[in-house]
Amino acid sequence: MNILITGSSSGIGLEIFNELKKDKKNNFFLISRSKQKKINKKNIKHYSIDLSNLNLLKTKLKRILKDANNTVDLIICNAAQGVFGNLENIIFNQYKKTMDINFFSHLMIIKSVIPLMKKKNYGHIVNISSGAGIVGLNKSSNYSASKSAMQVLIESISTELNKYNIHAKNIFPGPTKTNFFKQNIHLYKNSLINRGENVKKISQLIVKNLFKKKINIFCQKKTMASFVLKMFPNLL
Ligand SMILES: NC(=O)c1ccc[n+]([C@@H]2O[C@H](COP(=O)([O-])OP(=O)(O)OC[C@H]3O[C@@H](n4cnc5c(N)ncnc54)[C@H](OP(=O)(O)O)[C@@H]3O)[C@@H](O)[C@H]2O)c1
Repeated sequence: MNILITGSSSGIGLEIFNELKKDKKNNFFLISRSKQKKINKKNIKHYSIDLSNLNLLKTKLKRILKDANNTVDLIICNAAQGVFGNLENIIFNQYKKTMDINFFSHLMIIKSVIPLMKKKNYGHIVNISSGAGIVGLNKSSNYSASKSAMQVLIESISTELNKYNIHAKNIFPGPTKTNFFKQNIHLYKNSLINRGENVKKISQLIVKNLFKKKINIFCQKKTMASFVLKMFPNLL
């Protein structure tokens, strides 16, 4: 199976990769800015790309698809960043950059791969979603807006792609101990988000759900709190 993962150098993306590489038949096409450690194998290719640079991504995608012999069976849209704080303290370009990394880069990848998946009549497109995309959390406008955009994109394309045996889905890991989590957790001291799960455990759960034919898949019940907050915003 040919698998493309964005944000494979740390946290959830790295652990998903570690889990999937146990199957020696898988070929990997990995994207992150930092170099990926310990991958001198023929079936694993890493591309150093800053996903905020969409022109570079466009060029590199041609190389990636050529390397993959125009076959991608599974895309895992995982790379993300967030700038947290009040809206007036975050410059416009930071909103643009977060949208480019979290949303437009993945839209570009998905758009280039769908015609190939259609030809094979097979494919899975997985977005690593967040409760912060279900409800706009406090000090999270930059991150929440981008995660929400990605989430609804997946919901929209899911139906249009089903008939081609291509399954697009959101998998919600829930609070998970990664560098991203550690850097931002101080903002949510008294919240459920504060209690992050082990990254290996959550990534194994994600891998178990990669090929399910459901649109939204939740790894932890904690993510349900986002729906409660959506119904009762005064609790925010
Ligand atoms: N941790 C949580 O509690 C939690 C909860 C819900 C959802 N999520 C989602 O889980 C996913 C993974 O997050 P994580 O917690 O594992 O965070 P992480 O450890 O910080 O991983 C983020 C990954 O994204 C890559 N990345 C960031 N900016 C990039 C850029 N400009 N270009 C290319 N790659 C970039 C990073 O690689 P480089 O730095 O090497 O570029 C890294 O591999 C994200 O989509 C996040 O929204 C996380």
